[in-house]
Amino acid sequence: MIIGIPRETASGESRVSATPETIRKIVNQGHRVMVQSCAGVRAGVTNKVYEAAGATIGSASDAFGAELILKVVAPSDSELTLIKRGTVLVGMLNPFNNETIAKLAERGITAFALEAAPRTSRAQSLDVLSSQANIAGYKAVLLAAHHYPRFMPMLMTAAGTVKAARVLILGAGVAGLQAIATAKRLGAVIEASDVRPAVKEQIESLGAKFVDVPYETDEERECAVGVGGYARPMPASWMQRQAQAVHERAKQADIVITTALIPGRKAPTLLSAETVAQMKPGSVVIDLAAAQGGNCPLTVADQVVIANGVTICGPTNLAGEVAADASALYARNLLDFLKLVFTKEGQFDVNLEDDIVAACLMCRDGQVIRKNA
Ligand code: NAI
Repeated sequence: MIIGIPRETASGESRVSATPETIRKIVNQGHRVMVQSCAGVRAGVTNKVYEAAGATIGSASDAFGAELILKVVAPSDSELTLIKRGTVLVGMLNPFNNETIAKLAERGITAFALEAAPRTSRAQSLDVLSSQANIAGYKAVLLAAHHYPRFMPMLMTAAGTVKAARVLILGAGVAGLQAIATAKRLGAVIEASDVRPAVKEQIESLGAKFVDVPYETDEERECAVGVGGYARPMPASWMQRQAQAVHERAKQADIVITTALIPGRKAPTLLSAETVAQMKPGSVVIDLAAAQGGNCPLTVADQVVIANGVTICGPTNLAGEVAADASALYARNLLDFLKLVFTKEGQFDVNLEDDIVAACLMCRDGQVIRKNA
């Protein structure tokens, strides 16, 4: 099969869907790989290096004209016109965006959105949400350190002692846990909160303090467990008590990193404008939920806003700022997914008995298979 690797054109997108390592493996399986010229430049991979790995360098039409296309994000309208009917497309296609999926179906594309893979042990090696959120959590701390006008660690110098920064992390999934680990390495004092009870131990094992908001009703307890590893919207009663706890902790914090998401919904509001108004001037908020509406109402996607002396950043693609490693991990995720849709003999075969393949399949033969993953 001919496999295409286009150059990503979405604004700020620096990642690429294949690396020399994954291309070598794909070529060894008997496929041809067509890389669009300069597809990997922003991730540190030149055309020459791709060629040495066995790829052919071509134009956008060559890459999009392949039988199977590996993308980072969903193709734009103009890119869609380059894709032939019957082409297989694999990428982070945003399964909750019905419009995108409908367009892919209209063009007769067989599309797999890897964000829809189940959170199971077998799916771990192709879990794109984890591989990219992990990087975003790391980079969020570095971004906070960049905007924070003080040191992160406690320092004792001849000119006096500097206090360690206090970091509050809201949402301790993949990104939040990596943010805790990274802030810890930089010497910060960390507190973290999440709705799911399972994360208390994980937070504490990384050396952070768990901000406990006890459940008071069976409904709260049930909702908190979530579904499929993901959180569910919590009852208003719990959200109010959490807001109070966050308010108190945020007033003491120097840096707040918010990562709370609920799949397919607007991100929950965790850090109110009133709370920001009472935070210390010079403190920093990094809102990793900015692409889903933000955990703070003052967040503006992809902008830095200063409110009452508090710097609020709403980056929507932090993984893309660590383009080389983000691409390396993402490309491995894709390779592991391809193993599920190719037979040992290298034939493309959609096995809907496989729960991962079935969950990721968005459309085929002009039909939307799943509207909402
Ligand atoms: P996510 O990106 O959907 O959400 C981020 C975090 O926000 C979650 O921990 C969620 O509980 C939290 N959250 C939502 N509403 C909140 C609120 N009101 N207040 C505080 N926190 C709130 O989740 P992510 O990071 O993609 O992963 C969630 C979980 O999925 C992991 O912790 C893990 O248990 C599971 N997982 C399983 C995998 C596997 O077995 N293959 C791989 C990766 C994750």
